[in-house]
Amino acid sequence: MELLKKRIIEDGRVLEGEVLKVDNFLNHQLDISLLNEIGKEFKEIFKDLKITKILTAEVSGIAIAAIAAQYFNVPVVFAKKTESKNLDKETFEGSVYSYTKEKHYKIRVSKRYISSEDKILIIDDFLAHGEAILGLKEIVDEAQAELMGVGVVIEKGFQKGGDKLRQMNLNVHSLASIKEMVDGKIIFE
Ligand code: G4P
Ligand code: NA
Ligand code: NA
Repeated sequence: MELLKKRIIEDGRVLEGEVLKVDNFLNHQLDISLLNEIGKEFKEIFKDLKITKILTAEVSGIAIAAIAAQYFNVPVVFAKKTESKNLDKETFEGSVYSYTKEKHYKIRVSKRYISSEDKILIIDDFLAHGEAILGLKEIVDEAQAELMGVGVVIEKGFQKGGDKLRQMNLNVHSLASIKEMVDGKIIFE
């Protein structure tokens, strides 16, 4: 998606440890007109699939999924990362390994909000190691729902996640895929 790539070049900041900061438009401040274009692009890519629900994880996935959902006319469900008194007791769970914290954590969705009838599109901001998406897939699998596709805004192609998910035959599409980041410079696939 050219508009997105242009914005990543203009406003993305490459940090140490191969981290790309996109706080200016995607992860902190939100550029809603760009998010609208992203939503339209996801709809174009997945238009032939009869999606019934979009699934993401809090926090950064929510805004992207919510705006995309307007083009699919379906609800968004976001997996929660913290156990809270307000969350239903009956949940589907996925396990996510955090490379930064070097430990696993759980993500959860109430059993009320996904069923075996659902055809799910997973949406997220980044695909790096693929851990978040695999955790979301566990939730879809546990619910015996159907995983129709995975849409990510930015894929870090030099990390293992994309290959891993595609080897599992998941229908993964990213809107901007980064081949490498050298000396603060971003090179797309
Ligand atoms: P993974 O989900 O692909 O396995 O990602 P990884 O464990 O490597 O990264 C953990 C968190 O960092 C994820 O957010 C992921 O979206 C985000 N992330 C990974 N690489 C980058 C990057 O280069 N830049 C930015 N800005 N984020 C990156 P999360 O823990 O789910 O947090 P949240 O922001 O959604 O709350
Ligand atoms: Na994320
Ligand atoms: Na994030």
